[in-house]
Amino acid sequence: MARHLITSAIPYINGIKHLGNLVGSQLPADLFARYLRGRGHEVLFLCATDEHGTPAELAAAKAGKPVAEYCAEMWQVQKDLSDGFGLSFDHFGRSSSPQNHRLTQHFADRLHAAGLIEEVTEKQVYSNADGRFLPDRYIEGTCPNCGYEKARGDQCENCTMQLDPVDLIDPRSAISGSTDLEVRETRHLYLRQSQMRGKLSDWIGSKTDWPVLTTSIARKWLNDGDGLQDRGITRDLDWGIPVRHEDGSPWEGMEGKVFYVWFDAPIEYIACGAEWSEAQGLEAAAWERWWREDKGAGDVTYTQFMGKDNVPFHALSFPATLMGSGEPWKLVDYIKSFNYLNYDGGQFSTSQGRGVFMDQALDILPADYWRWWLLSHAPENSDAEFTWENFQMNVNKDLADVLGNFVSRVTKFCRSKYGLTVPEGGAPGPREEALIGRLATRIRGYEAHMDAIEVRKAAAALRAIWVEGNEYLQEAAPWATFKQDPETAAMQIRLALNLVRLYAVLSAPFIPDAAAAMLGAMNTDDDAWPDDVLAALSALPPGHGFEVPEVLFAKITDDAREDWQARFAGQRGA
Ligand code: 2FM
Ligand code: ZN
Repeated sequence: MARHLITSAIPYINGIKHLGNLVGSQLPADLFARYLRGRGHEVLFLCATDEHGTPAELAAAKAGKPVAEYCAEMWQVQKDLSDGFGLSFDHFGRSSSPQNHRLTQHFADRLHAAGLIEEVTEKQVYSNADGRFLPDRYIEGTCPNCGYEKARGDQCENCTMQLDPVDLIDPRSAISGSTDLEVRETRHLYLRQSQMRGKLSDWIGSKTDWPVLTTSIARKWLNDGDGLQDRGITRDLDWGIPVRHEDGSPWEGMEGKVFYVWFDAPIEYIACGAEWSEAQGLEAAAWERWWREDKGAGDVTYTQFMGKDNVPFHALSFPATLMGSGEPWKLVDYIKSFNYLNYDGGQFSTSQGRGVFMDQALDILPADYWRWWLLSHAPENSDAEFTWENFQMNVNKDLADVLGNFVSRVTKFCRSKYGLTVPEGGAPGPREEALIGRLATRIRGYEAHMDAIEVRKAAAALRAIWVEGNEYLQEAAPWATFKQDPETAAMQIRLALNLVRLYAVLSAPFIPDAAAAMLGAMNTDDDAWPDDVLAALSALPPGHGFEVPEVLFAKITDDAREDWQARFAGQRGA
């Protein structure tokens, strides 16, 4: 039994995530966590909400709520949705937790002691009306290049020209519209990442097994130089983790400032471990044995899941924080990153409300339908696209025709001929032996893909295992055999009922609710992984009672598909 620490990128607090976000980190992380648990490993699977930064403040203001209250409410909304999708986090934390405050301040202290923090004086735009400094993208004005009136301080959306806020003509606050702006001096803490280039470069160089998508992004940032520039880790905002020392004493010159959201967010992975152990009533040693090499984490394998845009922060910035602390924190062993999922000819977009969002998805279909489609189309090697036609076709074919139909045929046939107990029958023949041989090969292949986190290939391997059952049933045709040879037909059905249990165990990482329903119908809680396929196929002995389950997967009709297509064609809420 091995020990696996798994984290998913933590979703921003402002708003409900769309299916593209879901398949880009949380869902594949859950697949892997469930698989490893199924194989008997010890897993700690952590996720949280990413609650700081200007977008959170603005979303709260828009909702007319104090930001702390807004975040608490949205955390609950996101927690309920992740439960709805069966995301099996051991803990769903919050980056605003006291544990993260303490740890973030701790890391800043350590980095400071190591000479890796520098104070820098900058000029920034201050809005008198808003009583705050404005980050570049919250300053609007007319583009000096094309005349577009709503250009942002960092870039003109219309002509794509990169801008500095001082370039804008008639600049104003994007928050209040006020033009009462001035440039003020402000001091910030900078993390001297450039000092760590050598160490980071050696470390990344040693990760020869990382997926190409991850290493290509990491190396690009490392070698371009941009990625390892010294970086401001504080901001002039109200909401966030105060820039103070871990012991609570003030950090001179940093009064009223907070840490930058991207500094504290990954630290929340660790803090989430601390939140988890406290919630369980455990001592600190319980989380430290996952996170500290000197306290038992030496044998932990740590895997992170994220969208490709997050790779630089996880492959460079966060390791710089951890290494720079001079303490033996657990570094990531494997970064699994994803491309984007597009929606029906365009992009999923939170700001434009385009696509299907997690709450809407669960309103129309149970989680397993989405989990199966999303995972079997995970944007691993390139961007992928969601279309309603493809969704309908795959759900109907894979889940309804192949898996659902197998379970239904087998259980109903047995009920009608032998009753609701596993029949005895004779000894398996050559056809069964051949099937078991093929299944063993396919299952080992499935495991290999899952071990390598090749999500699409794993889905295809699982589907092929389901298909084996259907083809066997078709060839053996127990309904025909039954007429001359009820003994052999009984043996075939006994095997097929055992296959239902086997399928439940193998499929649980992808479709946990259906898997639970299958095990429930088979009246067993034996979910042991089929290390020995032959043995696994006799787990349900003759005489064992079972039930015919409700329809596992209903087909999506053309009417339903067209209805959803129309409903989700516009913008959310439009
Ligand atoms: O891109 C995002 O959704 C970020 N909230 C991810 C943060 S991951 C981590 F660093 F905590
Ligand atoms: Zn322009």
